[in-house]
This record gives sequence, structure tokens and C-alpha cells, in this order.
Amino acid sequence: TKHLLGIKDLTPEDLHLIFQTADQFKEVINRPIKKVPSLRDITIANVFFENSTRTRLSFELAEKRLSADVVNFSAGNSSVKKGETLLDTVNNILSMKVDMVVMRHASPGAPHFLSKHIDANIVNAGDGTHEHPTQALLDTFSIREKLGDVAGKKVCLFGDIVHSRVALSNIFALKKLGAEVMVCGPKTLLPKYVESLGVKVELDVRKALQWCDVANVLRIQLERQQLKYFPSLREYSQYYGINKGLLDSLDKEIVIMHPGPINRGVELNSDVADSDAAIILDQVENGVAVRMAVLYLLAGAGA
Ligand code: CP
Repeated sequence: TKHLLGIKDLTPEDLHLIFQTADQFKEVINRPIKKVPSLRDITIANVFFENSTRTRLSFELAEKRLSADVVNFSAGNSSVKKGETLLDTVNNILSMKVDMVVMRHASPGAPHFLSKHIDANIVNAGDGTHEHPTQALLDTFSIREKLGDVAGKKVCLFGDIVHSRVALSNIFALKKLGAEVMVCGPKTLLPKYVESLGVKVELDVRKALQWCDVANVLRIQLERQQLKYFPSLREYSQYYGINKGLLDSLDKEIVIMHPGPINRGVELNSDVADSDAAIILDQVENGVAVRMAVLYLLAGAGA
């Protein structure tokens, strides 16, 4: 395939191939010499129309570790501000002999639209409330690394499911890999269609924590909410915030994940985020190897 637009389009075999390739790159980037020449004739543009810390830096590092040439574009200080369209922007970047585009955009489907109109590999780095495929790949890769396998594991996604592209991509990836999936949050933050995706729904945070092996805790996406947020952040933290007291009250240990950025004291307290139960920075570390694998496979470098 030419693009990575979403997890929905991938097979379980695709996911396993990405993981096996990422295993090799993880070994490479832990060596004193972290670079391989695989993409040395490839130029990649990271085109970000929305803010990012982890995804943008992780893609840039992945590209540099593969010896690609890299250009970075942020809409905020570009000619988008003068009214240039998405298609014109990307076509102008491609005229400079760019081969691959990694794109984040606030509109669901923006990378799918581009993929129909331009002649370059496209990697979706998050499109609005729709998908964030490389986040789900690094999340499931991290579960596999921590617990040995994803199949048969019980994974619960907590919080703002309705606005979360991380949730949707994770649900697709976890189901394809044979995990049992639950979502937990206030009803106002759970999409009506969620059960049709084959996931369990639990409104009680303690029951959900007791059920799962892995808790993937999501941020409340204030920037995507059209109406006044309900419940308030204070109420959310009171009823759904995950803290050490709550985890200590379970009769088992669970793995805590978060895609970042964390709103400390809202969805997750520091006494959990910084504890040994959390693999949050392992997720970030794994993001580089997983993105190297995606870029390498899309470029056909392994063929
Ligand atoms: N997890 C994630 O996508 O983080 P950024 O928004 O900082 O890229």
C-alpha cells in the first residue's frame, strides 16, 4: 500500500509486519550509531496544521534515523494564513521534489482527500476526531512489549472517547490483534455507535479498572468541544480521575498508558502518571521505532 491513512484499512498481518520491523529499528536506535541509510534518497515533508509535540518530533527523528531528508511545515507561520488552500499548499511542497507527506489536520478525512489528488505517500499523523494510526501502532506495540502479546489482553480506554482519534484507532488495532476492549467515561463523552465497534461500555471507573489489564487514559479534548463541556473538568476529575488510592483499592496491578499530553490532576494524577505502573514514556520511546517501520515499509525499502 502507498499510504497509511488509518488502522481501519490494515490487516492483522500488516500490524504484525510493522511490529516485527519496529523490533529491528528499536534495536538500531539503541546502538551508539543510531542511523541506517535506508531512506537516504527520500525526502519527507512533515505538514502540521495542528499543534503537536510527540508526533512531530517523533516522525522527524524517525526520518533522520532512516537518513531521509526532512522539511517541516507548520500552518501557523505559513502562507495558509494568507488564504492558500490545503491542496495548493501540498502541491507547492511536492514541486520541490518531496516524496512523502506526513500530515496532521483538524478535518477528519483531510489525508484521504489529499491521497486522491497528489502523487506521494501520505501518512496520517492525526485527522481531527477520526484516526491517529501511528499512535495506535505505538500503543499496541508497547502493550505487546510489556505483556508479551496483545491477543487475549483486556484493554480499557478511559475518558473522552467521542472526540478522540486515539480511541478510534486503538479500538481498530486492538480488535484486529485479538484484545478485548472496553471504553469507560461519562455518557456525554461516549459516542452512541461505540458498541457497534464490538467494545464493552462501563460507566463506573472502578469496575472498569478492576476488569482491565491495561488502562489507556485519554485527555479531555477541550479544543474539539462545540458545546460547553459537561461534566466540568472538576467533576470529571472527581468521578473519573485515576489516582493511586483508586489503583491501590484494586486486587491486582494494571498497566497505565496515556498518549500525552497529560492534563495532570484531571484524567490522571501525578502519583499514577509518574509511578512504576505507567509506561507513558516507553510509549513515546517506541513511537520512533514504530514510525521508522511505517516509513520504511511505505517507501518499499524492504521490498
Ligand atoms: N500523542 C500525541 O499525538 O501527542 P502530540 O499531540 O503532542 O503529537
